[in-house]
Amino acid sequence: MKIAPSMLACDYTRMGEELRRVARESDYIHLDVMDGRFVPNISFGPGIIRALRPLTDKPFDVHLMIESPRKYIKDMAQAGADLITFHLEAESYVEQTLKQIRDLGLMAGLSIKPGTPIEEVFPYLPLLDLVLIMTVEPGFGGQTFMEDMLDKVRVLREEQALRGIAPLIQLDGGVNEENVKLAAQAGADICVAGTSVFRASNPGEMIRRLQWC
Ligand code: DX5
Ligand code: ZN
Repeated sequence: MKIAPSMLACDYTRMGEELRRVARESDYIHLDVMDGRFVPNISFGPGIIRALRPLTDKPFDVHLMIESPRKYIKDMAQAGADLITFHLEAESYVEQTLKQIRDLGLMAGLSIKPGTPIEEVFPYLPLLDLVLIMTVEPGFGGQTFMEDMLDKVRVLREEQALRGIAPLIQLDGGVNEENVKLAAQAGADICVAGTSVFRASNPGEMIRRLQWC
């Protein structure tokens, strides 16, 4: 399993050090951008992402939980994103936005909230490098993993096999040592982990444990 620690759960007074604590073991660095409109919480934006960029070579996985994400793609690219994921529910111009991300030479991801059926991403599969299936309601760290979302992973895997295309499948929300095995069995490629990594006494060691689930 590839693991992307979420900086949302780190100690913001020492964000640079927190990133250095996890960078070596991480497969991606997950950065949650929230606008207080699409989700009821506000986090950070491109300024913070740009400030963290020089500290590691690991790919920056930017998860946009904002309305009209297309307006911010360029800013996120300039700040140093390698992968930009936005929510299907937040954008009327999904296809154009995915193309814009790819035209900038970045990986494009599409995310769905727990209430959105997985079939809604099917029309966009040829344009996707990654599908992010939320396993909590987006907006906050520290929530409980919704095990029933694993059905979406299985359905998406089958659809991908039928079509012969395979965007990465990422899960985000409540991932820990207990449920990461279930995620792997269902066919997920990448798990985001915030609380379980940053609340561990040794975050690097926790990432390794999640990777070898
Ligand atoms: C939630 C965010 C997640 C969050 C995960 O809306 O998208 O990335 O940081 O945190 P944990 O692992 O604590 O659920
Ligand atoms: Zn996230």
